[in-house]
Amino acid sequence: MKPAVYITRKIPAEIVLKLEEHCQVRMWYQEDVPVPRDVLEQEIRHADGLFCLLTETIDRKLLDKSERLKVVSNMAVGYNNIDIEAAKEKGITVTNTPGVLTETTADLTFALLMATARRLIESSDYLRNGDWKTWSPMQLTGQDIYRATIGIVGMGRIGASLAKRARGFDMNILYYNRSRKYELEEEFNMKYTDLDSLLRESDYVCIMTPYTPETKNLIGARELSLMKKTGILINTARGGIVNELELFRALKEGEIWAAGLDVFEQEPISLDHPLLTLQNVVTLPHIGSASIRTRMKMADLAADNLLLALQNQTPKYVVV
Ligand code: NAP
Ligand code: GLV
Repeated sequence: MKPAVYITRKIPAEIVLKLEEHCQVRMWYQEDVPVPRDVLEQEIRHADGLFCLLTETIDRKLLDKSERLKVVSNMAVGYNNIDIEAAKEKGITVTNTPGVLTETTADLTFALLMATARRLIESSDYLRNGDWKTWSPMQLTGQDIYRATIGIVGMGRIGASLAKRARGFDMNILYYNRSRKYELEEEFNMKYTDLDSLLRESDYVCIMTPYTPETKNLIGARELSLMKKTGILINTARGGIVNELELFRALKEGEIWAAGLDVFEQEPISLDHPLLTLQNVVTLPHIGSASIRTRMKMADLAADNLLLALQNQTPKYVVV
């Protein structure tokens, strides 16, 4: 008998077909919203494999309901939505999709940096709202990017791709990471610093670590107070790494100059969130990896990981 797989959202048809060659597939396809928890709790009971997204909380309580689950395949590189310890204890394999989204996410991070520095969204709205009456010397002026200092917090796959882009803009590159990357330092001519020095010296601070107990609220009131008044914070990693209420205060009081955010503590962010009242914040709906080609690659890799685990082979990317 073919193994049973549950997919928590409608994914491209070719990926479903690929899974159907080897598995009995059920899928939450009713609406493009996260599968309701009670449906997921029901479906996980008899599933051998789960194909899920970062919108699903795969906690111990959920895993406890599974009777024969072998693998949870997350269509994302970040896996903070999954209780890894619980999965490990239960002998459930967890897989993710690193690599295939690295360049696309670095592109978006740099695009967000540029949009924030040069006030692109605000300027576009200015034109469309009919506020553009004339060219004026200091109208909508922003911050320079070329030869500025970028501080990258988290020098992993995406951090390194971001450094590569920064080199193209002749930027001075600082980084902070839990381990030093000597080869990358040489390749990108960048300097390792402690976090406080990076915050003090950078014009742009880009967050690129995973979301873990150690990185929760890594950037709070004290850290923001160390940044330059002209400093810009870019977060395309995970919302909880930056304390949003402290960020709002720092932006409102002019402690830092602007922020570009692709990720939030609560997603979707509530429309009455104070951050959305500020002009000096560029906000995106978690689209870091959202190119057609990359999302297809992520879905394909997540399917391959799932199939290999169900066939008792080692998937390409195993978390536990
Ligand atoms: P990665 O290759 O694992 O890089 C993460 C880096 O962070 C590693 O170099 C790691 O250090 C470092 N790190 C971990 N904990 C740290 C800590 N406490 N202090 C300092 N550095 C720490 O991951 P990646 O592929 O670059 O992805 C990074 C994150 O980006 C993902 O986890 C995900 O949350 C986010 N992401 C967001 C989007 C989006 O759509 N916005 C898309 C893709 C990814 P070591 O080298 O010592 O391990
Ligand atoms: C997206 O945020 C990912 O972790 O892949």
